[in-house]
Formats: sequence, structure tokens, C-alpha cells
Amino acid sequence: MKVTVVGAGAVGASCAEYIAIKNFASEVVVLDIKEGYAEGKAMDLMQTASLNGFDTKIVGSTNDYAKTANSDVAVITSGIPRKPGMTREELIGINAGIVKTVSENLIKHSPNVILIVVSNPMDTMTYLVHKTTGLPKHRIIGMGGALDSARFKYRLAEALEAPISDVDGMVIGGHSDTGMVPLTAHATRNSVKVSEFLSKERLEQVAADTKVGGATLTKLLGTSAWYAPGAAVSGMVQAIACDQKKMFPCSTLLEGEYGLNDLCIGVPVILGKNGIEKVVEIELSDAEKSKMQESAAGVSKTNALLDL
Ligand code: 2OP
Repeated sequence: MKVTVVGAGAVGASCAEYIAIKNFASEVVVLDIKEGYAEGKAMDLMQTASLNGFDTKIVGSTNDYAKTANSDVAVITSGIPRKPGMTREELIGINAGIVKTVSENLIKHSPNVILIVVSNPMDTMTYLVHKTTGLPKHRIIGMGGALDSARFKYRLAEALEAPISDVDGMVIGGHSDTGMVPLTAHATRNSVKVSEFLSKERLEQVAADTKVGGATLTKLLGTSAWYAPGAAVSGMVQAIACDQKKMFPCSTLLEGEYGLNDLCIGVPVILGKNGIEKVVEIELSDAEKSKMQESAAGVSKTNALLDL
């Protein structure tokens, strides 16, 4: 399994690091436009191999896509991250051009590649890749829900004063401060609904803290987060590499599922060797359905800003 990560910034480097540490890929190519930067990150990471016990070969490349040839999976993290006070949607102008060029270059050298889009505004960037590349929909996957669900589980464990391994929960909808739909009614602690332990108000607080999970970190760090995004991507790449048939909420092109059409938004999917192998349609309450409709309207509004 050969994986390319485009963008050697904090998120890209964290993706490469977690993928390597999990030791399922033979090669990870990290590519960046900044001269020597990806090579430096790759060398530094390779010098952790004997310490962390992995055999994955990490190679850096300054914008030379020939090095990415025949990648099975490629992760697009390139573009600018948000600064404190910015929304993900404000990044569209610069990032759309970058994501379009990067995806075209990747496909030129790896015609069978499965693309994972991380650049923001992620649902819109995933839609852009659909509109501009013509790849089949199962090979274009947006990373948002896996990260937002990890943040949801963190907040649930905090509220429950429980270990995270006791907690399960999922966030669907758009990867934005207003678009996320944390499924609080479905969340469980060791198979018992969390509503048995937490008040309605506390659960609403958990959902609110989850939705601004990225913004909270951007304020603290001065730029957007990287550890949890990198870990979320590595879990998705591993599910594809090892054909795990694991369920993650991912942004995917909907064609009638959940009553939605012609947009990419986070819904549960099965990830395996072919990428998205199935969209899972779960029963939503009327309140959850209307939140999903609102979220979709927000994503479509951002999509309308694309110059397609
Ligand atoms: C986040 O931290 C990278 O969008 C990403 O939420």
C-alpha cells in the first residue's frame, strides 16, 4: 500500500506520522510546494522509525508528483488553515484553486487512486473534486465526521467522567461550526444511552462544545489543530488499506440518500479496499432530519460560491 499525503504542514505531517506508526503502509510520500520542507519532515519522521518500531518508508518531495506515482490512497491537506475567528468557509477562495490542481496532478500519476480530502471548507472541497475530476464517487472521501465524532466522544467522556473506551457516538452533517449534527440520542456508554446518565441541558452543552471543537483549538493554538485530524485520517486510510469494512461518518456525494442530492456531506459509510463501499442510512428523528436539512442548506450555499 502506497499512500501520498499532499501538504507537509502540521496536519499533513501528523497524517504521515500516524499512518507510519500504525505500520500498515509500505510507503508514504509527503509532498509540499515549499522547497525542501517535505524532505525535511520525511527525514525527521524516518529517524523515529527505529524508536517507534515501524517499517513504513517515508519519502519527501518538493512538488514532484512523479514520486507519488501509483499511490493507492492520497490525502489532500494542502491549502491555508484557518486563523482564530475565521470560519472554514472563508478559506474557499484560495483553497479551491489549490485542491483542484492537486487532485488533477495526483490522478495524472495514480489513475486508480482513492482521494481523501481534508482541506477546508472540506465538504465543498470534496464536492469540487467530484465536479472537476470525474472520479467515481466511491473514490472521493471527505474527512470531517471521523474527527468530529472523536471530539464528540472526548466531550461525552468528560461529561460522563468515564474512560473514552466506554463511550460511543457519531457526528454527521457538514464539517462546520453550525453544520455538525452530533447524534446525542444515539450516543451510548457501554451500550446504555447516555441520556440515562446526563441531563438534556448537559447533553446540549456536549453537542455545542463538539460543534466548536475545531474553533476552540484554533483560538488556543493560533492555527487549526493537527493531532486529531491526523489520527482521524490514519484510521480511514487503514480501513481502506486493510479492507476493514469499518463504519465512519465521511463526506460523500449524496444521490437521494437522507433525502439529499447534489452535495457532499457527512453521513455514515463503510470504508474498505474500494473506498466508500456503502452509504449507511440510519433512522433519524424528525428533529435530527431537520438539523440535517439545515446543515445541507449551509453546505449548498458554500458550494454555490465555487467557480465551476
Ligand atoms: C479541524 O480541526 C482541520 O477542519 C479541521 O476541525
